[in-house]
Amino acid sequence: MKDILAAPSVTALIRTMSNMYAKGWDERNAGNISLRLEESELADYLDLQAVDRRLPTGFSAPSLDGMYFLVTGTGKYFKNAADAPARDLGIVRLVQGGSSAELLWGFTDGSRFTSEFPAHMMSHAARLRVDPENRVVLHCHPTHLLAMSFVHDLDEAAFTHTLWQMCTECVMVFPDGINVLPWMLCGTNAIGEATAKKMETARLVLWAQHGVYGAGRSLDECFGLIETAEKAAEVYLKIAHLPVVNTIPDEGLQQIADHFGVKLREGYLNKGLSQKIVHNSKK
Ligand code: 13P
Ligand code: ZN
Repeated sequence: MKDILAAPSVTALIRTMSNMYAKGWDERNAGNISLRLEESELADYLDLQAVDRRLPTGFSAPSLDGMYFLVTGTGKYFKNAADAPARDLGIVRLVQGGSSAELLWGFTDGSRFTSEFPAHMMSHAARLRVDPENRVVLHCHPTHLLAMSFVHDLDEAAFTHTLWQMCTECVMVFPDGINVLPWMLCGTNAIGEATAKKMETARLVLWAQHGVYGAGRSLDECFGLIETAEKAAEVYLKIAHLPVVNTIPDEGLQQIADHFGVKLREGYLNKGLSQKIVHNSKK
């Protein structure tokens, strides 16, 4: 057997966690990641018949039955994952309609997957229905998106439009926009179900006054998605209290989408708060 610590998915996950920590998105134990793996990716590294422990999940996810996930542990610090991957990460196989997970590797200190496992698994199921190549669900607490959720209208179209206006690249990176959940108790099946519902129409879901979820085909793509939205939120917070005199007009946003061949979320133009700021400042 090859060394699992050298498996590309494990090294990529650890690199992503370190980068997220460096960005300031994952203080203490904040954040969690799940990466769907193919059996063929694991066969050279693990005896897939050797189950260490069985972990009840507390929910059912029949469409994920038999799937493998590399996932971060609850209470683990992203800062430290590189020092003790076998302690802080785990590889599980969902069984019994998703109601149980077989631990194949990791969580060597007896711990278990993230408390947000319901939101992760339900989001995987939702994204896989939309995009069979989706592999990643990633949650973190990026400062500016979090801050923006205190001061901006949480209407999804308005929030999305404002982010789109903050950097030219935004409409290319998340033409599907960002969906928004009001503040809810985290770590529950209820927030998992609500997040998964929002994941049906967008790869970004804001948890107001908490953080953000992203989904994508690779860790890099998902990291970049959140990085772009977070950058836009940072720009917004830098200008929100100033008289804005220039902006990207909606025709410009549409031009970018047309030029780069992406389809903007229907009905989301002419919705941003910043549009009003621009309008008022010209009076
Ligand atoms: P976990 O440590 O259980 O992953 O929780 C961190 C978090 O961000 C909760 O939303
Ligand atoms: Zn969180």
